[in-house]
Amino acid sequence: MVNLMIEITNLFKRLGNKEVLKGVNLNVEKGETLTIMGQSGCGKSVLLKHIIGLFQPDKGSIKIEGKEIVGMNNIEMSEIRKKFGVLFQNSALFDSMTVWENVGFMLKEHKKLPPDKIKEIVKEKLALVGMKDIEEKSPSELSGGMQKRVALARAISMEPEIVLYDEPTTGLDPIMSEIINELIISLSKKLKITSIVVTHDIRSASEISDRIAFLFNGVITQIDSHDKILNTTDPILRQFLDGSTTGPIET
Ligand SMILES: Nc1ncnc2c1ncn2[C@@H]1O[C@H](COP(=O)(O)OP(=O)(O)OP(=O)(O)O)[C@@H](O)[C@H]1O
Ligand SMILES: [Mg+2]
Repeated sequence: MVNLMIEITNLFKRLGNKEVLKGVNLNVEKGETLTIMGQSGCGKSVLLKHIIGLFQPDKGSIKIEGKEIVGMNNIEMSEIRKKFGVLFQNSALFDSMTVWENVGFMLKEHKKLPPDKIKEIVKEKLALVGMKDIEEKSPSELSGGMQKRVALARAISMEPEIVLYDEPTTGLDPIMSEIINELIISLSKKLKITSIVVTHDIRSASEISDRIAFLFNGVITQIDSHDKILNTTDPILRQFLDGSTTGPIET
């Protein structure tokens, strides 16, 4: 029996006048790192937001460890969300709070830990993403790449079972990208975290992924090991991976 953490079946979502998701089927196994790739605007972030219940689908099912979350009320959903760490694409830090208040936010809200203990954990999480001595700063004083790393420290602050990373290396220099890739790998290996990573970074995808899924025209058209995906001869996926302006994808 396959040990599934996330099971998405026939998911549909219209936003405005666009049918964004048109029957997404996707299973994520426990402990696996799955990368989702696809064109800008194809619905990757929208799909992640469904998994944590920030969007309700028009149709379809999402099960987390066998539990249906579509239609759950806020109280049930907030229990489920405790399993998750989420790195949003825009980092989504609270500007009115310092770095340590941002990273420690969930620890204060959910674990009710004393400030000293929170500061200690925050320091440790910031060290994991290569940052120190910035605890008292405001997010607006940080560069985009630094904000991303602070947001990543916040995402892993509660030692979640599942982490959703929306473009974790976008805007980071190659060395910092590598540090983040290694962090994703080590979290997954050491803590057996289940990870979904949305990325446009093919090098990163090949390093971190157990499998890669390709979202195109509202459905997952391919899902396979990174070797098979990156060496595909499928004309659409090939054009996407090569970044070619000629081919079956309309540009
Ligand atoms: N809250 C919203 N209201 C209306 N439309 C939305 C909303 N969020 C996303 N969309 C639309 O849904 C589509 C998919 O957006 P999404 O952000 O998921 O793309 P993406 O694949 O993550 O792209 P990128 O790689 O650029 O981040 C887009 O057409 C977008 O305009
Ligand atoms: Mg996105």
